Amino acid sequence: MCGIVGYLGARDCTSVLMDGLEKLEYRGYDSAGIAVFEGAEIKTVKTRGKLAAMSEKLEREGSPKGHCGIGHTRWATHGEPSDVNSHPHSNGRVTIVHNGIIENYAELKEFLTEQGYTFLSQTDSEVVACLLDYYYAERNPLHAITETLKELRGSYALGIIFKDFPERVYAARFGSPLIVGLGEGENFIASDIPAFLKYTKDYVLLDDNEIVRLDPNGARFFDLHGMSIEKERQTAEWDVEQAQKCGFPHYMLKEIHEQPDVVGKMLDGIVKDGEPDFTQFGVTDDMLRGFRRVFITACGTAMYAGMVAKYAMERLARVPVTVEIASEFRYMEPIVGEGDLVIVVSQSGETADTKASLELAKELGATTLAVVNVKYSAIAREADICINTLGGLEIAVASTKAYSVQITTLYLLAFRFAFARGEIDENELKRLTEQLCGTPKLISDVIERSDECQFIASKLVNTETLFFIGRGLDYALSLEGSLKLKEISYIHSEAYAAGELKHGPIALIQQNIPVITIATQRHVVEKTISNMEEVKARGANVIMICREDARVADGKADLRLDLALGELDDLLAPLPTMCALQLIAYYSSILRGNDPDKPRNLAKSVTTE
Ligand code: M6R
Repeated sequence: MCGIVGYLGARDCTSVLMDGLEKLEYRGYDSAGIAVFEGAEIKTVKTRGKLAAMSEKLEREGSPKGHCGIGHTRWATHGEPSDVNSHPHSNGRVTIVHNGIIENYAELKEFLTEQGYTFLSQTDSEVVACLLDYYYAERNPLHAITETLKELRGSYALGIIFKDFPERVYAARFGSPLIVGLGEGENFIASDIPAFLKYTKDYVLLDDNEIVRLDPNGARFFDLHGMSIEKERQTAEWDVEQAQKCGFPHYMLKEIHEQPDVVGKMLDGIVKDGEPDFTQFGVTDDMLRGFRRVFITACGTAMYAGMVAKYAMERLARVPVTVEIASEFRYMEPIVGEGDLVIVVSQSGETADTKASLELAKELGATTLAVVNVKYSAIAREADICINTLGGLEIAVASTKAYSVQITTLYLLAFRFAFARGEIDENELKRLTEQLCGTPKLISDVIERSDECQFIASKLVNTETLFFIGRGLDYALSLEGSLKLKEISYIHSEAYAAGELKHGPIALIQQNIPVITIATQRHVVEKTISNMEEVKARGANVIMICREDARVADGKADLRLDLALGELDDLLAPLPTMCALQLIAYYSSILRGNDPDKPRNLAKSVTTE
């Protein structure tokens, strides 16, 4: 939530900041702003709306010309999206950008008001600028920052400039990501690497309670006592192309198309001699044998990936698996402890509730395993075991390829689990692995049928509400398909276990309400079809997504997308099937005139509760 950038170097600062903000816009796009030193003066330009509005404003009013500054793209928490609530915030001597939430801002505001400070915005962030000014009495920026940080509760990544120091950018973090990019004679701060990837691949990860100072001599790091510290320099594996649309109209479509490739990479990374090998992550068969229960906790799409894993692990390994929404898990006093494996799943590795659940599970004595796409994220670094998914950079707010690599990883783990526990033999382990290795081709086949998905989407655009139904793994898919559709098309959608429909929700079925029925699981396909017929009998417009050999009486399905899954084990059907649901969601969004990459009210990285 919110993206921050900062730059000091020879280039035109405004262009570097705007470039960086464009790469971070996935983190929030309610408003944007920059503050740049023009000589000894700080010039601030900010506005409500997406970055395009900011570019227009710069065009109209002129861009600040300078070489040192900070920028921000906002996902509003305190105070509506407006010009005045946009960052940067300043009180004259100190200007800041902030990502996170200052939980004790009300009491700090009261204190600062008593000291004579006045506030322009409704944000929590403005108190940070005032508090920094309050502690800047000795005109020592580092002292002001360390004293301020000691008073803040909540989470923050801060970019700070002091009017008296036109060639310095400071930054600090607690709980929100902050990366320092190290270039040749120029340095950067940013919420994420893509913001400076065009200029340098070298970076340093700032940890909680650490501060960085960029000045003409380079970057220096300090702890909360103001003592100098050494930090490890790392090199990003991503290249600039990954942060671009590469000819696709949207990141989401590009990321859908990348799925065969990233699933293939994931398989190559884990499969050795025809079977999954997790020893590179420190996971042995002995270890897997030792766990009595598994918990999977995550949010949104990552949690639905966990649901697919539950079906696979329970069916194959006969180990009990509980899937919990992370925002519930952390407050439910879970009965978890030694002997339990807690798996957290996250694309960003920064999701606040998932991170808190991980910390709780560790505290309770469970072994924690993170399935995380962003290798340098907090969750990746905090878990006992981390399996880095190889989805590459995912920029669209709606998660697609991250889901596919998550379930690929979790399938492989389920296979290994089952083998380690003696539930399947080596032949079956190899058979399942081989089947999974065939899914990139099946995903490609679905992508080739994008036109049919677009046609289905065209039948949904004018509806206000619709249903997804399915049984077993098809139910897990329904939940994710429904989430994908609602978050980018804004069509109200509900997902139900098909057998549950007549316990209440069927009351909502009336003439022409679309019901997307997913029926890939052969052991329950007849039951699902019966449920589908029940809604058809009540006037629903039935769209069926199924294996090509699913037998349905004439006229019972208004539209069918027959998936040629061949001999694919039903257990693995979610991989290609999900791709069809993603494409339907994507085209529904486009046909309704929305921006699927930046759906309203959402942000990619949810670092607040
Ligand atoms: O970064 P994470 O995987 O932890 O994010 C979890 C959810 O916020 C995320 O999956 C969200 O539901 C997406 N918008 C779904 O497309």
